[in-house]
Amino acid sequence: MKEFHLPLFDHYGQPCEFTGTRTGDELLDGALVADGREIGKVRRGIAAFPSAHDEREPSIQAFVEACRKGNWISHNWQNEQDCSQIPGRARLCDELSAIDGPILEIAAGPGGGNLSPILHRFPNASIVVNDILTPFLEIWQDQLVSMGVGPRVSFAAFDARLSPLSENSLSAISSNGGFSNIVGDKSQAVREAVRVLKLGGRLCISEGLLDIDELIRLPVELRDDYQLEMCLAKTGWGSLFEEAGLRIIWHDTTQGRALTPENDGVAVEAAKHGVTLHMRFEYVIAEKP
Ligand SMILES: C[S@@+](CC[C@H](N)C(=O)[O-])C[C@H]1O[C@@H](n2cnc3c(N)ncnc32)[C@H](O)[C@@H]1O
Repeated sequence: MKEFHLPLFDHYGQPCEFTGTRTGDELLDGALVADGREIGKVRRGIAAFPSAHDEREPSIQAFVEACRKGNWISHNWQNEQDCSQIPGRARLCDELSAIDGPILEIAAGPGGGNLSPILHRFPNASIVVNDILTPFLEIWQDQLVSMGVGPRVSFAAFDARLSPLSENSLSAISSNGGFSNIVGDKSQAVREAVRVLKLGGRLCISEGLLDIDELIRLPVELRDDYQLEMCLAKTGWGSLFEEAGLRIIWHDTTQGRALTPENDGVAVEAAKHGVTLHMRFEYVIAEKP
């Protein structure tokens, strides 16, 4: 973690300090302390804050193992760099690449969100890459270090619904399917994103959205897991962020595409009830007024 990103973690008005080992401005291993209390750790250069996720859970370990074995991150670094064939996403990445202040990449995962396209456009971008799981961040960190890129990139593991970041601290928030993959109450992550964004800061997101008329045909027990998606499917991501206090600058939505049971777990469940789910993509650029 870069020392110059430490003030972002000035949590609830209490400066965050680091004690531990470092080389130059790189914080390596130690504790993050605010108001005399340890609020997080730094391990192998990655800031990690407490969350309810258990990384030892077999399904999570299998996901990480598949990512390592399949070299997903190295492939995604290559494959995601351009994204000009997806005009909505390219527009978001152009916007993000023009931002000099700190950008938070939410729930980056193995895809890295917009990390690769931003760094390919603006190698000196200041980015804090987030995920609730540390292993993906470790692999991304190793990838960037091995290529000698991303001099202003830090990694921070925390639950985006309960952010340790300071209010009004970020110039931008970026997500490519990050918000839509957040487990649990996504609207909590939306409120946290708005809280940590600076006045005038930009939110640039591309998120998937399921169709309300199709969701409604699923049995209630199955739908229960998708309560917020029901609400989102009605209003969309733009409205959710608008309600949370942002001003929409640009907004676009694609046509729905069928989810196939081969590629998607939800589609498997829906198919058992004779429903084909369609997903459309919503692109939003918004500002904190
Ligand atoms: C499947 S990935 C997809 C999205 C990713 N942006 C990409 O480009 O591929 C979803 C990621 O969201 C992370 N995640 C889930 N809930 C989260 C939360 N509450 N806070 C932060 N990350 C979360 C998961 O650990 C996972 O790595």
